[in-house]
Amino acid sequence: MNRTVLHVPLLLIALMALVACSATGTGNPAASSADVRPFGATADGTAASLFVLRNDRGTEAHLTDFGATLVSLHVADRDGERADVVLGFDDVSGYESDANQYFGSTVGRVANRVARGRFTLDGRTYQLATNNDPNHLHGGDRGYSHRMWRAEPHPDLASVTFQLTSEDGDEGYPGRVEATVTYTLTDADELIVEYRATADQPTPVNLTHHSYFNLAGAGSASVLDHELQVFADLYTPADGTLIPTGAVEPVTGTPLDFRAPEVIGARIGELDDTSALGYDHNYAVRAEALEGGAEAVMAAGPVAVLRDPGSGRTLELFSDQPGLQFYSGNFLKGATGKGGEVYAHRSACCLETQGYPNAINEPSFPSVLLVPGEEYRQFTVHRFHAE
Ligand code: BGC
Repeated sequence: MNRTVLHVPLLLIALMALVACSATGTGNPAASSADVRPFGATADGTAASLFVLRNDRGTEAHLTDFGATLVSLHVADRDGERADVVLGFDDVSGYESDANQYFGSTVGRVANRVARGRFTLDGRTYQLATNNDPNHLHGGDRGYSHRMWRAEPHPDLASVTFQLTSEDGDEGYPGRVEATVTYTLTDADELIVEYRATADQPTPVNLTHHSYFNLAGAGSASVLDHELQVFADLYTPADGTLIPTGAVEPVTGTPLDFRAPEVIGARIGELDDTSALGYDHNYAVRAEALEGGAEAVMAAGPVAVLRDPGSGRTLELFSDQPGLQFYSGNFLKGATGKGGEVYAHRSACCLETQGYPNAINEPSFPSVLLVPGEEYRQFTVHRFHAE
């Protein structure tokens, strides 16, 4: 009892410090309080909440504690018209259902695939769920995307922190992990996502944000008319089950070359008959995670730019991570989401900043191993404007 009382102020101070660190995109965090609304209840009766962040331009980001998930993001087009640009559901029951393909969620303990759900650390082999036969995908049967996080909205700021304790043995992973993810909306229309994690045993940690974007508005029929630019010369080719072969190869001469802006649909047909069924590839943005925090991330420039020519809405993505998974929604198959909108095949795409897939089994890839005494940190900025 005493311990809890003693730790509450400490926790608050730590969270405020975290927000102060986060608010270093180009804009200050918006000075409006996050308002909190009910968001339904999970099957086991736990109440979920919706946190509404708003900036002085009227941009809004709605987040829920289930999966530390971005539910909606209302962004202006070139005429000032707002649209919700991410896929999602109207309440928590949708996120708990089979229709939820990680819409907007925080994915972990290890995002993307682990070959055959297996890895060896210090001579011991760990077997995880093979929920994407024959591999492990996005943290297993009930990864971080499908868990209730503890929410801490920050008074007087458009910011909320979610906290999760992932116990030793959670989904087969070794060691207890304490993770936080903080979302901050700035007055410069930046949605900043900052992650931190510690572990009490060596364990792989690779978190990502899994929003599906359609900048014409969630529910629009296709994302294939969007232009994409990816600032990467290299990617990691994968086998028939989407596990990287270990090679890192140039994008030159492949449909993956987005170094100059290109419409997503222009060359996607060349990938129809591959096991990815379209774009579902990891770009090797850099050989190691970028050190130096927010300033270094912004100074390095965007890793990708996504633009909808129709509305002019443009997303610039900044990240310190070595990898960027570009996924063109090939497995979307008509789920009904917010407001009854239908999410058709390739009607949205994901740009997931993270470590390389299967890095825990590939010594030549940047390490995703977190050891006691060290802190996992990740910083990603989604900056919006209209052209
Ligand atoms: C993966 C896809 C997977 C999808 C699930 C993406 O991050 O790259 O292969 O099907 O998540 O929604």
